[in-house]
Amino acid sequence: MSVKSVILVGGAQKGTRFRPLSLQSPKPLFPIAGVPLIEHHIDQLCQLPNLTEIYLLGFYPAEEFTNFIKDCKSKFNVPIQYLEESGSLGTAGGLLKFENILLQNNPKGIFVLNADVCGDLPVAEMVVELDSQPHAQCLILTTEATREQSINFGSVVVDENGKVLHYVDKPTTFVSTHISCGIYLLRPEIWKVLSKEIRNGGIVQSLWFESDIFPKMASIGSLHAFHTTRWWSQTKTAAAALYANRHYLRLYRERHPERLCSKGAKIEGDVFIDPSATVHPTAVLGPNVSIGGGVRIGAGVRIRESIVLPDCILEEHSCILHSVIGWRSTVGTWARVEGTPIAPNPNIPFAKLDNKPLFNADGRLNPSLTILGSDVHVSNEQIILNSVVLPYKDLSASYKNQIIL
Ligand code: GTP
Repeated sequence: MSVKSVILVGGAQKGTRFRPLSLQSPKPLFPIAGVPLIEHHIDQLCQLPNLTEIYLLGFYPAEEFTNFIKDCKSKFNVPIQYLEESGSLGTAGGLLKFENILLQNNPKGIFVLNADVCGDLPVAEMVVELDSQPHAQCLILTTEATREQSINFGSVVVDENGKVLHYVDKPTTFVSTHISCGIYLLRPEIWKVLSKEIRNGGIVQSLWFESDIFPKMASIGSLHAFHTTRWWSQTKTAAAALYANRHYLRLYRERHPERLCSKGAKIEGDVFIDPSATVHPTAVLGPNVSIGGGVRIGAGVRIRESIVLPDCILEEHSCILHSVIGWRSTVGTWARVEGTPIAPNPNIPFAKLDNKPLFNADGRLNPSLTILGSDVHVSNEQIILNSVVLPYKDLSASYKNQIIL
């Protein structure tokens, strides 16, 4: 079955919970395990034997994706095109606007992937499942969450044959522990449903699968679910990016061990080091560390559970734990940048990572990872703990639990 894919990348007004890391680069291009977040989507989609085209759909200026698309086209040898909405059209409105392009050459199925999710996605299995369900116009990927967490997602009630009986987006009270993963496989016939919903004098307005389309499709029995128990998470916050980093590095170990680093420094567990980075042989890295291009790491540096973005300099004996270090930042000798680890509760089955807000009910910063925005300079011997630092700051004192504006 020939398949096209659309990745919903949103626009600059989206991804606010990812600040300050989304201030300089679109969130979908944030590097996780050494490559932009949506390159992981593209990589997995390219495992499909009959994939003919990938589209990035959003309302960022197209230039922001030009270099990324060029790189991916040569890496994956698949046509990739950016489709630009003039403003937010919702998760389904853009699909209608670009109907002619998307339905050209009669694809049998069209994947729609939210950019801000990550996981080990069973895309090939979804194609087989849709093929075997002639009455389904759309297959949505679902997973299990706890009762408490499920209300933050699209809740899905499914019968024993996988037919969706109810779909409620972010319900106010508990509906089901089955939640939508933001990954859909559509049949072309669904465009008729979209058109009926929205065309108003020929102008396409905003339209959302989650609130406008899926609840109605569930009521007529044309929406089906495909359940996965593999790793899946949202990537709404920088803490979620560190969590995704750990899992994508684990997938490298299972499927592409050549992408992981095994020499050049003392390596513990899964570590990605860009070939253009220089790492002193006495530095100790890992587990779960990604080092971007052009980074320089001095003697005796210790890094664990962190992402270091391109062109940073980490001076001798500095220590980076549970943190993201933004582009071109420098950390002085014997300085320490440290955050608090965040992970799903290991004692609760199916628990997902909480996308905690920055502040708690008392107005205090929730302890989380430390984030240095781009071009931040930490002086020698300073300690930066559980803090968020905006770009272009020189930190010549120590800070704890602060947002440095
Ligand atoms: P929040 O919790 O408020 O973030 O809502 P959500 O988790 O339901 O996410 P949301 O619906 O805002 O976005 C889901 C995905 O669709 C993300 O990958 C967005 O980048 C993308 N998206 C959201 N709005 C638009 C839009 O207007 N156009 C396009 N092309 N993509 C969008």
